[in-house]
Amino acid sequence: MKLLVTGGAGFIGSNFIRHVLNTSPDDEIVNLDKLTYAGNLDNLREIAENPATASRYRFVRGDICDAGAVDEVLAGCDAIVNFAAETHVDRSIVGAKEFLLTDIVGTYVLLEAARTHQVSRYVQVSTDEVYGSVSTGSATEEWPLAPSSPYSASKAGGDMQLLASFVTYGTPAMITRGSNTYGPYQYPEKVIPLFVTNALEGKKLPLYGEGINVRDWLHVLDHCAGIDTVLRRGTPGEIYNVGGGNERQNREVAAGILRHLGLGDDMIERVADRPGHDMRYSIDSGKLKALGWNPARDFEQGLAETIDWYRENESWWKKIKHHTDEFANWEKRWYEERR
Ligand code: NAD
Ligand code: DAU
Repeated sequence: MKLLVTGGAGFIGSNFIRHVLNTSPDDEIVNLDKLTYAGNLDNLREIAENPATASRYRFVRGDICDAGAVDEVLAGCDAIVNFAAETHVDRSIVGAKEFLLTDIVGTYVLLEAARTHQVSRYVQVSTDEVYGSVSTGSATEEWPLAPSSPYSASKAGGDMQLLASFVTYGTPAMITRGSNTYGPYQYPEKVIPLFVTNALEGKKLPLYGEGINVRDWLHVLDHCAGIDTVLRRGTPGEIYNVGGGNERQNREVAAGILRHLGLGDDMIERVADRPGHDMRYSIDSGKLKALGWNPARDFEQGLAETIDWYRENESWWKKIKHHTDEFANWEKRWYEERR
């Protein structure tokens, strides 16, 4: 298969590209990425430099909202996997316009191109946040959508475009709804890499509110395997939840990070809560498991390995945190008013 992967320079997309090139030796990938603050070609350096993978991989800088750019890169591709999105809930609270553009309009542009080029598969990488807070039980794919943040509302808008395109035009498109993902190469604004890199720098861990909100943690390689399963074995028009089965309160995750690094809970700093903060996410992944997928990684071990990865790859995250103003400006803008 020749795949168009969009947003492949980000966290999950870059792990997915590495996963596919290593596990499907006949597949080729074109990676279309706008390189926003979250896009980082360092994530794929060894793929682009290793002859075994470089011959099957091409990077193109471009915006999924640009129909001309999408049309050009899609020529000759069999399938699309769309990771491209604005992804940080806190940033969507500060300003949602880019979220609406990329996550809704960008999805529409990709769906139109998928029709024109008659691609055989399209996977939209979505999120469990579209179900909103789940107070009891676990959301199945049939649960009503109740997004709470501008981010999750935008992702839900993309999902709706996709389902409408399937019903109206028969576009062979599928949706994955993944839970909170962690692992190597995650931009350090998200809670696990933020807490780990702060701890490594001797800085406090800013925990929102009481720290009792629950997230279901999924290792990035398990997430990638789930998306790959849907790409190859999913049914068009269907939605598949991809959950890690590791529900933890944020304060437990913070304590686990500090314990692994031999630091005490005094490193935790309580800060003002995120507005509209969903209390709990929980999804039922039985439908994807029926296709043969299962998350393979234990959370405590995956977290320990992830912490070690950030410890051993300081230059990767220090470049993001300290070599440009982008991260520092965000940290100042968001956290100063929460203290
Ligand atoms: P990320 O923020 O690390 O990366 C997003 C990538 O998309 C970046 O490389 C960025 O440059 C690119 N991009 C943004 N706007 C673009 C545009 N208009 N055109 C082309 N490229 C653009 O995100 P991530 O955490 O890797 O998430 C990837 C996808 O998975 C997203 O769709 C997100 O909603 C979904 N998701 C993420 C998680 C999670 O916990 N991280 C969980 C479930 C679902
Ligand atoms: O559930 C899937 C979603 O997970 C994805 O769709 C999103 O793209 C991804 O960013 C993530 O959203 P969250 O808002 O859950 O992730 P975040 O890492 O921002 O926060 C995780 C939890 O940690 C959440 O309850 C808020 C809390 N938190 C976060 C930050 C950044 C803190 O307590 N302090 C912080 O500084």
